[in-house]
Amino acid sequence: MNPDLDRLQSYPFQRLAALKQGLEPPVDRDHIALSIGEPKHPTPSLVSEALIAHLHRLSGYPTTRGLPTLREAIADWLGQRFALGATVDPEHQVLPVNGTREALFAFAQACVKRTTPAPLVLMPNPFYQIYEGAALLAGAEPCYLPCTAETGFLPDFSAVDAATWERCQLLYLCSPGNPTGAVADRETLAELIALAHRHDFVIASDECYSELYLDEQAPPPGLLEVSAAIGNPDFSRCVVFHSLSKRSNAPGLRSGFVAGDAEVIERFFLYRTYHGCAMPLHHQHASIAAWRDETHVRENRARYREKFAAVAEVLDGALPLSLPEAGFYLWPETPISDTELARRLYAEEHVTVLPGSFLSRTVDGHNPGERRIRLALVAPLNECVDAARRIRRCLARL
Ligand SMILES: Cc1ncc(COP(=O)(O)O)c(C=O)c1O
Repeated sequence: MNPDLDRLQSYPFQRLAALKQGLEPPVDRDHIALSIGEPKHPTPSLVSEALIAHLHRLSGYPTTRGLPTLREAIADWLGQRFALGATVDPEHQVLPVNGTREALFAFAQACVKRTTPAPLVLMPNPFYQIYEGAALLAGAEPCYLPCTAETGFLPDFSAVDAATWERCQLLYLCSPGNPTGAVADRETLAELIALAHRHDFVIASDECYSELYLDEQAPPPGLLEVSAAIGNPDFSRCVVFHSLSKRSNAPGLRSGFVAGDAEVIERFFLYRTYHGCAMPLHHQHASIAAWRDETHVRENRARYREKFAAVAEVLDGALPLSLPEAGFYLWPETPISDTELARRLYAEEHVTVLPGSFLSRTVDGHNPGERRIRLALVAPLNECVDAARRIRRCLARL
């Protein structure tokens, strides 16, 4: 077997299951999971109806390139959502993917050139775990950039030395960030694009939380938008990843897209042809309906806003909380070890949270996720509030 498989870390949820093993939560209250980032708001009916209406398409093989109408819907959405100042070419700059998870993983396999010494893939720390596994299986070395309160919960790119940039072939950017909810501003994105050109690497910008922002007047900027604004209108070295999972509460649809640099997309297309990951046709039709509607997305944001406000009110004074700019996670500091607090919350209150240290790696003796927990506000409002009350109660007992 491929020896690189041994380099993969156990997934955070496996570690969480091991942490909870043997604990006996109280049986007088239901379990509330704030651990998994799986949206629970209802999938809009326009998506499920389009899916059902196209079930007869099961009789056909889908193509890797996807339906032109889907790529057009995506290109239109990108143009409307981001002030691109340039049009996205649906033929050459867009590819549908079966959720961004598989695409983020596959992208490194297509992008990284195996060299000696091993190429670097840069990523935030804490991070969405797929980036690391993708780098390792592509024969690269992950390089973790700490995201702490001091760095505004984003990597401090100015602290990366030139030798590291020279070895970098791929940078995973996650904005809005999971788990921190921090958003990279336009200046940062512009600097990164300049660095990518200077040192010849590709930016894979994971923007799957871009539509869940708290301030309706301040949607997070995207990499393609900044690319166009700074005179890189063909999006050279820039690729973005967007998903319907969070935006449209459709994680089961497995639908997203990659868009950007046509040359990179063409090579990725070649990879995907062999990988065999074309999106089923009825899913493509459901996706067209989702990308063409914003009403359900505005409603979705309103629901998350309501939950953030309610939970923050309950936890006020009990945990140092700052609301994120976007996403659906809280990332508070904890008064005791993150794993110990997670164990106690489960054992005493039947609430599952994710210890921050499970989402990050120790570098130079420091783990930026230590003493933090990730709370995903995905459950209905009353459950989130109930969970917050239980957390408050548990903290009061410490
Ligand atoms: C940062 C980030 N990127 C990508 C994904 C993958 O989402 P999907 O594969 O559903 O598009 C997730 C899912 O939780 C995520 O948190």
